[in-house]
Amino acid sequence: MKIGFVGAGRVGSTAAFTCILYMDVDEVALVDIAEDLAVGEAMDLSHAAAAVDKYPKIVGGSDYSLLKGSDVIVVSAGMARKPGMSRLDLATKNAGIIKDIAKKIMESSPESKIIVVTNPMDLMTYVMWKETGKPRNEVFGMGNMLDSARLKERLHSFGARNIRKAWIIGEHGDSMFIPWSLADFDGDVPREKILEEVRFVAAEVIKRKGATVYGPAVSIYRMVNAVVNDTKEEIPTSVVLQGEYGISDVAVGVPAILGKNGVEKIVEYELTEEELEALKNSANILKERLKELGY
Ligand code: NAI
Repeated sequence: MKIGFVGAGRVGSTAAFTCILYMDVDEVALVDIAEDLAVGEAMDLSHAAAAVDKYPKIVGGSDYSLLKGSDVIVVSAGMARKPGMSRLDLATKNAGIIKDIAKKIMESSPESKIIVVTNPMDLMTYVMWKETGKPRNEVFGMGNMLDSARLKERLHSFGARNIRKAWIIGEHGDSMFIPWSLADFDGDVPREKILEEVRFVAAEVIKRKGATVYGPAVSIYRMVNAVVNDTKEEIPTSVVLQGEYGISDVAVGVPAILGKNGVEKIVEYELTEEELEALKNSANILKERLKELGY
């Protein structure tokens, strides 16, 4: 089993760390435009692995040929929004980076499944899908998995117990929502307050420590694990829809079964009218933004 990472920054390297500790990985490759960073992270990670008596082959560098043969490639390369930078500026800048990465992945490891993490993630997932020309089940994004982890944490803090299912779906951004009709846990919770808190908690973490790292890293691991170990878990995933939920030609977060073929099935639940409207609202917002990007 080989896992590739494009982007060896905070999120990419910590996701690699998590995968190495939690799974039996044979090979890890980290590619970053900052070559020394990728090499240094690979060395540090190999020491972490040896400390728990694991000896996977871990390599780093700026050369995409390192990725060859990866089962999954996690893409978290790019930038986060800087003060004064507009949403569109960031999307334009990162879309350029994703376009370049798509081309290089197709030259070096065209069979790999690709998990997109770079923000604005739903848009970048669409750009990656379009630019690689791969089938939609092989290019998908991580965002709602993390949003849902934040939801579970908030639910628990408000007294919910035995949380069997609690998802956020829709845009990985302001228009995300909770399909309460699908939620399954014990206890009564203040729903509006929880949604509000989940929406803004990432900004709070970024304000205090500069980035979100562990939450994203472990969420990435969950999706990588579902694919490489073919677990068939149901995980909210950003994927290009082609008619599901009445939505087409945009990547947005929906419940999906993940396994060795990537997104093996998009699960179409009977949502309430209000929930379906919220999902369509997310899709419309994202479509508008894709248009701004020229897609
Ligand atoms: P970071 O700045 O620590 O790492 C980004 C890395 O990308 C850097 O090492 C940089 O050298 C590399 N890079 C930049 N341009 C590149 C290129 N053209 N080719 C290869 N590598 C390149 O940032 P961090 O904190 O790791 O975040 C990465 C991205 O993930 C950001 O866009 C952030 O907004 C996003 N993110 C998404 C989450 C999600 O839930 N989808 C959660 C957290 C972060």
